[in-house]
Amino acid sequence: MGLNIDYEDGQTPLDEDEKEGLKIPGITTRGELDEFEQVGVENAIASLSKQKISPEIILTEDFLIDLHIKMFGSIWKWAGEFRKTNKNIGVDKYYIGIEIKNLLEDCQFWVNHKTFPDDEIAVRVSHRLVWIHPFANGNGRHSRLYADILVSNGFSRPVFSWGSKNLIKKGEARSAYLSALRQADIQDYSALVRFARS
Ligand SMILES: Nc1ncnc2c1ncn2[C@@H]1O[C@H](COP(=O)(O)OP(=O)(O)OP(=O)(O)O)[C@@H](O)[C@H]1O
Ligand SMILES: [Mg+2]
Repeated sequence: MGLNIDYEDGQTPLDEDEKEGLKIPGITTRGELDEFEQVGVENAIASLSKQKISPEIILTEDFLIDLHIKMFGSIWKWAGEFRKTNKNIGVDKYYIGIEIKNLLEDCQFWVNHKTFPDDEIAVRVSHRLVWIHPFANGNGRHSRLYADILVSNGFSRPVFSWGSKNLIKKGEARSAYLSALRQADIQDYSALVRFARS
């Protein structure tokens, strides 16, 4: 039996070939998938919390890709691979590599020149990352954890709370998050900076 899952507002549906990449054949429901993915995310957090990582290391493509593998590599064969199809959100698939490179360079510049407060740098990176949408799935969670690592490990600030709610399920926190992302889409980052610590 194939995977048949419902999608909430702001989630990118998987293509058939992406569903093929599921490593755990027993998963048939969205709930089961969420649980397996959550375990992967928690393992990634645990493995990274043991070490001190500099912004220079975090702001490399290798680190960014490796984080996606750490989070989702036990569930999806294509974890850490840039997507090969276009989505209703994100840059054209051909521009993912260059957009990621530009983002990491821009961010290193903001860090070096203290262009924005630390929280805002991390929030800007998270938003632009999810706007590029490099992977077939897990972009939201990857972009938030990436910002958490940058802000806590790179900048030695407390980790973000991102509404301290489950953002995967429909609800007030997810609506507030999506509306803050849409404001950030038009270059107003204030709501997303506030939301990250709410
Ligand atoms: N208008 C938008 N602008 C920027 N980002 C958006 C917008 N709409 C949705 N997103 C982001 O796309 C994410 C969904 O992409 P994807 O399904 O790859 O991530 P996910 O990690 O599986 O989802 P989730 O964030 O629900 O855990 C949303 O969580 C949100 O972060
Ligand atoms: Mg998703």
